[in-house]
Amino acid sequence: AGSGALAGRHAIVTSGPTHEAIDPVRYIANRSSGRQGHAIAQALAAAGARVTLVTGPVSVADPSGVSCVHVESARAMHAAVEAALPADIAVFCAAVADWHVVTSEHKIKKSGILPQFSLVENPDILSDIAHRTEGRPTLVIGFAAETEHLLDNATAKLARKGCDWIIANDVGAGSDVMGGEANEVVLVDKNGAEHWARASKTAIADRLVSRMIEVFS
Ligand code: C5P
Repeated sequence: AGSGALAGRHAIVTSGPTHEAIDPVRYIANRSSGRQGHAIAQALAAAGARVTLVTGPVSVADPSGVSCVHVESARAMHAAVEAALPADIAVFCAAVADWHVVTSEHKIKKSGILPQFSLVENPDILSDIAHRTEGRPTLVIGFAAETEHLLDNATAKLARKGCDWIIANDVGAGSDVMGGEANEVVLVDKNGAEHWARASKTAIADRLVSRMIEVFS
């Protein structure tokens, strides 16, 4: 075990988008660079935690000192998170697709008739892990990207998902949070909401990890 305030603790972090195949050459995805999730994984490792980062397809590099599992779909991300348990901390930063497509084995051809896609709901990884009665991580953190009614939606999400904290951010028109270097968030827990000033994603990650350390000290 290393040194640091989180030495001996295991943290699982999800990051990036998921890709849901339509056919062998096409997919649907969410917008996510993986920057915030990767920064959190890095900050947790710097605090001495053993970190498993489960990431969808991103162009940012694997953080050093972190065990990375690369996945494409939400179902694969779910399986990788389950395989990484038990954990003390779980941070669900990934922009997971809510649905997957009933896939076509072969590339869909342009035929004059528009193709129809059937969508199937994906597992909600955060909700599933947070609602476990056995083996639930001590601290389960979710993210909420909202374009309107940020606080109401985040508060409702905290309850619905069963997590301990929701980190909410406004990704509405005019926001450069998605893909950008900076973030502006509100931390929502059972005691209320706390607005954090706009800062780099690295600074947000450091601040978040400081808060996690308080929980474990
Ligand atoms: O419900 P919504 O997608 O807005 O919730 C966002 C939070 O839930 C994020 O923490 C995200 O990582 C997590 N999530 C998940 N699995 C899903 C959908 C969302 O873990 N299928």
